[in-house]
Amino acid sequence: MEVIVTENYQQMSQRAARIVAKAILAKPSLVLGLATGDTPRGMYRCLVSFYQEGLLDFSQVTTFNLDEYVGLDPYDSHSYHFYMQEELMGKINIRPENVHILLGIASDLLEECCQFEQSIERSGGIDLQVLGLGENGHIGFNEPGADWGSVTHLVKLTEETRKANSRFFSSWEEVPEKALTMGIKTIMQADRILLLVSGKNKGAALREALFGPVTPRVPASVLQLHPQVMVLVDQGTTQFEGS
Ligand code: GLP
Repeated sequence: MEVIVTENYQQMSQRAARIVAKAILAKPSLVLGLATGDTPRGMYRCLVSFYQEGLLDFSQVTTFNLDEYVGLDPYDSHSYHFYMQEELMGKINIRPENVHILLGIASDLLEECCQFEQSIERSGGIDLQVLGLGENGHIGFNEPGADWGSVTHLVKLTEETRKANSRFFSSWEEVPEKALTMGIKTIMQADRILLLVSGKNKGAALREALFGPVTPRVPASVLQLHPQVMVLVDQGTTQFEGS
């Protein structure tokens, strides 16, 4: 596992975008796993500028998003569909049919998860998976206690995660209680993983994920077992140093 501490959020975002860009240049039909949340926004901004400057072509790229809230319409401004459209998809030349985001309002959620897994398989598997880190050590929406053999599935969100994500909603009642997420196994099957960590509230989770025991209590600790992980840490993520 390679860990790189960058001076600030902007540097972290630029480095992350360069890693993704390099991967697309090396393989124009890259299968890219993507994350949402505040952490990757800067990376998406850089990727959009690379595209606008004519440096990147997304026309053959395929994407799979990690997760989506259950019950939110794709046009709902709190949905991850909406987030991805705003931050990236609406600003680049990716083909809509190559963008895969779980549908949180599917009538059959289990079938939705199965089809998502099948699409990943059909695409040949994820080449590069971008991840963020939850304050409680979650990756995607795989909460503490996650089953490491899990593929894409339905989860009940913990109070901690609902609290952490309530900042995006106007009231507590609006924060979804459930989500669909790639499983730990799905994530671990990616060829390469890029974990982005930014924010003072992430220090403890990061320390446990990188240096603590490998345990389902800290889902991100499973990454210690993956052969190709790069971690980019914004130095503002305090409590990391000296651990
Ligand atoms: C959510 C998402 C995760 C994301 C995490 C961290 O719970 N499901 O995929 O990594 O939040 O988000 P942020 O980057 O906003 O701290």
